[in-house]
Amino acid sequence: MRIAPSILSADFSQLGSEIERVEAAGASQLHLDVMDGHYVPNLTFGPMIVEAVRRTTKLPLDVHLMIENAERWVDAYVDAGADMVAVHPETLYHPHLTLTSIRKRGKQAGIALNPGTSLSAIEELLPFVDYAIIMSVNPGWGGQKFIEGSFERARRLRQLALDAGTSLTIEIDGGMNVERISEASEAGIDVVIAGSAVFKADDPAAVIADMLQAASV
Ligand code: DX5
Ligand code: ZN
Repeated sequence: MRIAPSILSADFSQLGSEIERVEAAGASQLHLDVMDGHYVPNLTFGPMIVEAVRRTTKLPLDVHLMIENAERWVDAYVDAGADMVAVHPETLYHPHLTLTSIRKRGKQAGIALNPGTSLSAIEELLPFVDYAIIMSVNPGWGGQKFIEGSFERARRLRQLALDAGTSLTIEIDGGMNVERISEASEAGIDVVIAGSAVFKADDPAAVIADMLQAASV
């Protein structure tokens, strides 16, 4: 299992050193939450910050787009240095087209699935995605409470991918902490995204070490 800190809860006045700390602690990739104040009520950052993060780290950058008209922005985030781009399929008229456009740029294409999104509704997209983010909170804010039943959704998604004969990386996003790692591991989660549990802790490196340890037992 891999750990992906979400910089949403980092200290943006010290972003470079915050990232260095989690990279040294064993984070496998970084999660960047892009919010536009329309699709979700919160507003975060755009390609300029992604490009700045790109210059501070070699870790793969997973850009989670919580925005309207995501299809118009894929190229800008790839140009800024994204290695992975995830979209919410319900925001798109033509999700297949957008996912294909991410892959055409040589990047990993992802779908982010809200707690209320039907898994059967996205079944047709599975052959065209490299990863799926199971949202275990409603998108918009860090520090929310984990929604029970999210691991079960991850299990069902895994089965759908197996049935479709496609390999799929499954990430879980929202309300994750050290205590929930073993359950995530049992559910076959590949990547745990964690924001506040990592960056609001006194010692983010220790939290990542604890998460990796919990995943290995
Ligand atoms: C929520 C974001 C998450 C968020 C997770 O909309 O997609 O990535 O940063 O934060 P925590 O781990 O604090 O729930
Ligand atoms: Zn996210």
